[in-house]
Amino acid sequence: MPRLLIRDLAQVASPAGRTAPLRGSALADLDWIDDAYILCAGAEIEAVGRMRDLGSLEGDVQELHARGLSAVPGLVDCHTHPAFGGDRVDEFSLRAAGASYEELHAAGGGILSTVEATRAAGADGLMSTVARHRDWMLRVGTTTFEGKSGYGLDRETELASLRAIAAAGGIPTWLGAHAVPPEHADASVYLDFVLAEVLPEAARLAEAADVFLERGAFDVDRARRYLEACAATGLALRLHGDQFTEAGAIPLAIELGARSVDHLEATGPAGIAALATSDVTGVLLPASALFLGRPMPPARALVDAGAAVALATDFNPGSAFCESLPLVCSLAATQLKLSPAEALAACTVNAAHVLGRAGTHGRLAPGYRADIVLLDASDWRYLAYHLGGAVVSRVVKDGQLV
Ligand code: NIG
Ligand code: FE
Repeated sequence: MPRLLIRDLAQVASPAGRTAPLRGSALADLDWIDDAYILCAGAEIEAVGRMRDLGSLEGDVQELHARGLSAVPGLVDCHTHPAFGGDRVDEFSLRAAGASYEELHAAGGGILSTVEATRAAGADGLMSTVARHRDWMLRVGTTTFEGKSGYGLDRETELASLRAIAAAGGIPTWLGAHAVPPEHADASVYLDFVLAEVLPEAARLAEAADVFLERGAFDVDRARRYLEACAATGLALRLHGDQFTEAGAIPLAIELGARSVDHLEATGPAGIAALATSDVTGVLLPASALFLGRPMPPARALVDAGAAVALATDFNPGSAFCESLPLVCSLAATQLKLSPAEALAACTVNAAHVLGRAGTHGRLAPGYRADIVLLDASDWRYLAYHLGGAVVSRVVKDGQLV
């Protein structure tokens, strides 16, 4: 088995313990070692420790000298929309001149304009686009990503999106209820179609299902219908909720035992209290709030109340054309008032928890996946501190230098 020794690291920082999700004050608990090494055996971490405790290693070991660098776990992006055709740069420019995201959506732009471009891209086009987006993510330290469909909204393009995400190494989520495409009279008629025609195959390709529960998209009754049908096939459940309005996403997520409710920019005190005593993780997407000029989600209140939170990019062409979790960590520190340690846990172990992978991903400890980000700084907190900077020096995935 090939072994890789990363030696002379200035620091190694990893969320502490072995349990997930980390909540409340434990969100900031880190194992933090100075002057350290990480030894990988194949795709797993064999040992992490201090250089002075490193004994002599038998056999063939590839060595990487990392003086002046620090290491954190490979970042886990638990919410992205990488399967789309075209772009929304014209819409971006209109928004810069004052148009609102919801107005553009209501006028048939927004998500539906990407649906048209995604259908036109074809299966091969989607394969290469998702691979390209995966490479962008990897370059900034994302070694595990979830990817949603949701820009096809017909059988062929939804299934092609899920296949493209899996082929790129992503974890596919079927966002069959993202918007109502123009060929269907209304949301109920559209759900009749997708649940009968797309769900049976989507359930084989995806690990989870997701819905956009919002005014102008799917209301709580339709979201329940969609999610219950998906759960019956064994899919885990996710929700886009409380992005613009509180329309019942948190109570529904709790009722159905969803893994997460994502966005939460509009969540008030009752929603915070409900999430805090539930097993549903709140996925915070500050790059999306920034990109749309919207209020930030109440992250500090959620963490202090004891809710499980994760951070993700929401990478997509309309509301967050941003694949950088390091930038999201900077936004978490500057806008959400999370400490760098809290931000790190939120986009590693807690994000892995949302994806059902916290036993293997998101920590630097023996037995975990050898996915490692080497930061171009001797203090790992530069992950959040270096706003928009080139903070990622090297990336190791499955025990191999990328
Ligand atoms: O998470 N809110 C719904 N869906 C995406 C945005 C989709 C788009 O604008 O294309 C989101 O923000
Ligand atoms: Fe999203």
